Amino acid sequence: MQSNLSSKPQSKLHVGIIMDGNGRWATRRQLSRLRGHEAGVEAIRRVVEAAPDQGVGTLTLYAFSSDNWRRPKAEVTALMALLRFYLASEVESLVRNGVRLTVIGRRDRLPNGIADAIGRAEAATAKGDVLHLRIAVDYSARDAILKAAANAASEGDLTREKFSDLITGEPGLRDVDLVIRTSGEKRLSDFLLWESAYAELHFTDRMWPDFGGEDLAEALASFHGRERRFGGLQPVSPELTPEVAL
Ligand code: FPP
Repeated sequence: MQSNLSSKPQSKLHVGIIMDGNGRWATRRQLSRLRGHEAGVEAIRRVVEAAPDQGVGTLTLYAFSSDNWRRPKAEVTALMALLRFYLASEVESLVRNGVRLTVIGRRDRLPNGIADAIGRAEAATAKGDVLHLRIAVDYSARDAILKAAANAASEGDLTREKFSDLITGEPGLRDVDLVIRTSGEKRLSDFLLWESAYAELHFTDRMWPDFGGEDLAEALASFHGRERRFGGLQPVSPELTPEVAL
């Protein structure tokens, strides 16, 4: 992966992607759903490679929602095995390309060894400053908000910024600029609900395993064509939106 962008990720866009359609992609090809998820990992590689040169500094990918535990045990086991494989096989390439990996969501319900593998991958990639890749696993935005609310009880004067920091665990993390969902579905499915308060939404019929750098570019072109007013009347840059006193 080549990247000639050197500015800090924070000044670049935060894109969230709901990677949907792996199962349908596979079924249409008379393949097992697992093959669809494996092809989904290839799509992750393409998008991670393309993102920095398209002005993306933070990329949050929805890999496994807290509601996905309801899937058949065999599929859950296969997804967890794929995550374990990804963490082991990808770290070297992430480090080489300046990608910092963090995993958001609960870790206490993951199969044995995965939480440790996540910790190792996070530590190994901690210095990456080209792209911040966040993978959401056993993630629920509503649960993240609830947990932050419980922790906020001890905070004196709570602001939106302080609450954001409690939700994300990443002080100063940029709000989401753009949410992309593949496969033609048009829902948020409990993904980054607080952080996406003013995100633009982009829905595409492309199945996730077919998604690549050109699709990301198309979504970003549509994003750049929109006027973001954050509730006011004039276009505003997200870096300049003032904290409004309530
Ligand atoms: C949605 O497709 C996709 C998921 C629930 C999982 C996404 C996972 C990956 C892309 C691979 C694993 C990720 C990592 C980081 C190793 P679906 O199964 O709901 O598709 P369908 O709606 O067509 O059935």
